[in-house]
Amino acid sequence: MYNSCFDNIFIGKYITYLPTCHSTNDIASELVQKGLAEEGHIVITDFQTAGRGQRGAAWESTRGLNLTFSVCLQPDFLLVDEQFYLSMAFSLGIKDFLSSYTEDVSIKWPNDLYVGNKKCCGILIENAIAGLALKKSIVGIGLNINQQTFENPKATSLAEITQTTYDLKELLPALLTQLEKYYVQLKNGKKDQIRHGYIQAMYGFGQERKFRDASGEFTGIIEGISNSGMLIINKTNSHRTEYAMKEIQWL
Ligand code: BTN
Repeated sequence: MYNSCFDNIFIGKYITYLPTCHSTNDIASELVQKGLAEEGHIVITDFQTAGRGQRGAAWESTRGLNLTFSVCLQPDFLLVDEQFYLSMAFSLGIKDFLSSYTEDVSIKWPNDLYVGNKKCCGILIENAIAGLALKKSIVGIGLNINQQTFENPKATSLAEITQTTYDLKELLPALLTQLEKYYVQLKNGKKDQIRHGYIQAMYGFGQERKFRDASGEFTGIIEGISNSGMLIINKTNSHRTEYAMKEIQWL
């Protein structure tokens, strides 16, 4: 069981805990469709049988070792082309949370949380649109806490980094408070502040890195993000190019 965060205005005031489920994003979406989820309602589980990641990948997480949950939101104050602000706000909240335990935390575009050169957390945001604005969003978070072995050599956890074991029930309120801090900033229209914070926290910002796009491998310097959240790269011996998520791969 997880305790509700009654001190928060939205995020975590209501929590649905399921020992096992297919995907918390799917359960959260069902609750929203049935009108059973207030803004900030959390669905959290110990284990997903069909956890989903970005680009259609599966999200694997060992039972009971990590924070695996989804947040139901109604960000109708954001236009469709502003949806990346939600990614930025949640990435920054997780970054602040992780930074209170360890150093060298950054956000790998679009919304992976890295500690050093390894991924510690992934976010999957699924939006429903009404006209020009966002109507509902489900923000799914997989944050590696106590898992110490990973099939993916580029994955890590807070326990592996700090050599400490954590009580998930104690960590959750602190994390939700950080998420709420940035969500409230966003609701209050502090978009420039969020964008600035995100760019400052970007993994590899200003450094020459290797990528692959439709024309093949190349090197380039990350210069930031566009208003709609596309990655801006100044390609070596070429020109500045903006990429959407499916158009580019980090190497
Ligand atoms: C990624 O590929 O980096 C995104 C991973 C998102 C995983 C979380 S775990 C909770 C929520 N439910 C899912 O099925 N996926 C997200």
